[in-house]
Amino acid sequence: MELQGKIALITGAGRGIGRAIARDLADRGVSVALLGRTEEQIRAEAEAISSVGGRALSIVCDLRTASAAQRAVETVREHFGGLNILINNAGVGRFATVAEMDPADWDAVLRTNLDGVFYITRAALPLMFETANPSAQTGGDGFIVNIGSLAGKTGFVNGAAYCASKWGLIGFTESLMLEVRDKGIRTSIVMPGSVDTTFNVKGLNQSEWKLTDRDITDAVLGILEASAKAHISRVEIRPNNPPPKR
Ligand SMILES: NC(=O)c1ccc[n+]([C@@H]2O[C@H](COP(=O)([O-])OP(=O)(O)OC[C@H]3O[C@@H](n4cnc5c(N)ncnc54)[C@H](OP(=O)(O)O)[C@@H]3O)[C@@H](O)[C@H]2O)c1
Repeated sequence: MELQGKIALITGAGRGIGRAIARDLADRGVSVALLGRTEEQIRAEAEAISSVGGRALSIVCDLRTASAAQRAVETVREHFGGLNILINNAGVGRFATVAEMDPADWDAVLRTNLDGVFYITRAALPLMFETANPSAQTGGDGFIVNIGSLAGKTGFVNGAAYCASKWGLIGFTESLMLEVRDKGIRTSIVMPGSVDTTFNVKGLNQSEWKLTDRDITDAVLGILEASAKAHISRVEIRPNNPPPKR
């Protein structure tokens, strides 16, 4: 799809992978709505994009509430009048054994990584249907890209909540894909391995071997810029030179 002039909503866009996706889309002439809970981050990023000539909107929203997700989409409609691209990127991780996991942590992970994706997608679909313009020539102007994880197909110790959420996201994505593909919307899941962001850490790990946010945005752009005939439905990205497993 030609990206210039399109409209995107990116969740978790105040830092990390979501921020990188928002910047890249804005660079290509996409109007971007940046959503997250931390107002300073979302606002600073929207201002940075606007200051170099992009069209950006900041939306403070906790996706764990359906009504908040609904209001977020209404804000996009009011400001931009449509929606072509939904990037479901917001996510959290809480890591503990099942025996030791606090139910509040389980809830935080499942409610953000699964319920939140459902709430914002359900809210966005009517606006996306209006904007998608289904046609064999263009392939349709709608895309939903969910940021999953390789943890959605491989379990690990302490990973039960996170793996369950990302495993569930694959089922959600594939079902949704079949529901909306004849309406001009292509649905995809990107499944990265370890990426060097602040996810679940206090600062960047600075691990040489980890993927960068750039690696993930490249994959997302590949999905969005595919030809009218192509639907890249799943991408797995793993570090090329991880440390050996013991
Ligand atoms: N980093 C990795 O190694 C890695 C690997 C595979 C997959 N992923 C996935 O990639 C995605 C982005 O992760 P990242 O590494 O960029 O992490 P990050 O730097 O921690 O960013 C996560 C984003 O999600 C937002 N968020 C969290 N809970 C939210 C909520 N309830 N409502 C709205 N926004 C919320 C955060 O903003 P606020 O806190 O301000 O709300 C933040 O902007 C996640 O889905 C993660 O599971 C990451």
